[in-house]
Amino acid sequence: MWLPKQINTNIALYKAIADALERDIHTGKLKSNDRLPPQRQLAETIGVNLTTITRAYGEANQRGLIETRKGDGTYIKARSTAYNANASTQTLQSTLIDFGFVNPGIADLTPLLKTIRQVGDATELMDIYHYVDSAGLHRHRQTAANWLSQYGFRNININQIILTGGAMNAIHCTLLGLFQPGDIIAADPLTFPGFINAAKLCGIQLIAISSDDEGMLPNALAQACVKQQIKGVYLMPNMQNPTSTCMSDQRKQQLAEVIRSADLRLIEDDVFAFTNLESTTALSALLPQNSIYICSFSKTLYPGLRIAYVKVSERDCNAFLNALVHTVWMASPLNAEILSRMIENSDIHKVAVSIRAAISARQQMARSHLEDFELSINRESMFLWLTLPEGWYADTFENAALRVGIRVIGAKKFNVDSGSCPNAIRIALTTEPDDERFQQGILKLSALLHQSPSLADAVM
Ligand SMILES: Cc1ncc(COP(=O)(O)O)c(C=O)c1O
Repeated sequence: MWLPKQINTNIALYKAIADALERDIHTGKLKSNDRLPPQRQLAETIGVNLTTITRAYGEANQRGLIETRKGDGTYIKARSTAYNANASTQTLQSTLIDFGFVNPGIADLTPLLKTIRQVGDATELMDIYHYVDSAGLHRHRQTAANWLSQYGFRNININQIILTGGAMNAIHCTLLGLFQPGDIIAADPLTFPGFINAAKLCGIQLIAISSDDEGMLPNALAQACVKQQIKGVYLMPNMQNPTSTCMSDQRKQQLAEVIRSADLRLIEDDVFAFTNLESTTALSALLPQNSIYICSFSKTLYPGLRIAYVKVSERDCNAFLNALVHTVWMASPLNAEILSRMIENSDIHKVAVSIRAAISARQQMARSHLEDFELSINRESMFLWLTLPEGWYADTFENAALRVGIRVIGAKKFNVDSGSCPNAIRIALTTEPDDERFQQGILKLSALLHQSPSLADAVM
């Protein structure tokens, strides 16, 4: 029998019960056509009066979550799953445990749904339903500037703040607007595959610069700049994907000097910034004339928002905007409004705190079952990087894991040049919404890692 868990005691009880029901639908605990307990039975079991449950079901009904079938009872409505942020995960759920794609499958959707309703009711906000200034509405850019100031940017000029449709859109605007086909951009030896593919599409050559456990080596970058005409550098200083390395302040200073003296353009991808409540300084804050700083909310909040805040150096603003105008015209002001409100009413902090707690619990669970293996994992990282034991190759392991119902991503997909790459895999910790399934998946992975690859795996 369904029982409401984690009740918010600061709001009316009937609303808190409806919220719990909504949350269980979003996390997949309740599925379409599941039957809810009869009102009287639920009231008696949890020890509240019948009117509270009647009001809770009424509220859930109004939200479109449940339906009453005459003479048969109350059921979860079929369309309730339609707005589940983890739809892609859900389709796979019955078969595959997804440790591949990094997704905030654990994010609580309640604050988002509340804000969507508020925006829907705010009839005075006609501007968000129309074409607006391509950089974004002034008030949204102001919120963005306030938000970015926590990452060490001083005296932000609002004209340098541009909203894009997620980080990928910002990456494409940067490559299309500020670089030419044939240009060379330096990157870590292993980097975000979305960037590798965007560079390919734009005819830009990537070269790998050596790195250590703090990220790119400043000397190696300086030497590469002497040998080749490098135009830019793509980095994730505060959380490297896939290795989860974080740069020290000293490393940032050293890299900033190299970037400044070679007059490179830094493309700083800080897509995981939001989990970092200690507000680590952005490398771009040291390079206001040479940087494009990208802070998206997709990975650590709700990917469906498709909003990134971008701070572009003054000299590159027009070229960046030009690319935005000629690709998507503007980021959705409707979504930017939702994000702005969540920042202004501090809901975003509540989500951040809960996501960080969930990340930490998942990290602990993963560490305890994978302690025999070499792991790279950092405080807030939503993924871990595991070096495979001898005998396993990343590709064969990826296939072997798929055969036991788990998706992981092998090093090859992150490899900047086609040369050798480590035998390692990335394990996403937050995509699978259900703790039990997560644990099952980690146990299966651990068992597989303790085995030798079978001959069948080796020849695949
Ligand atoms: C490092 C990095 N940057 C950017 C993105 C894409 O972000 P968005 O969904 O905002 O386009 C991802 C998603 O995988 C990522 O890992």
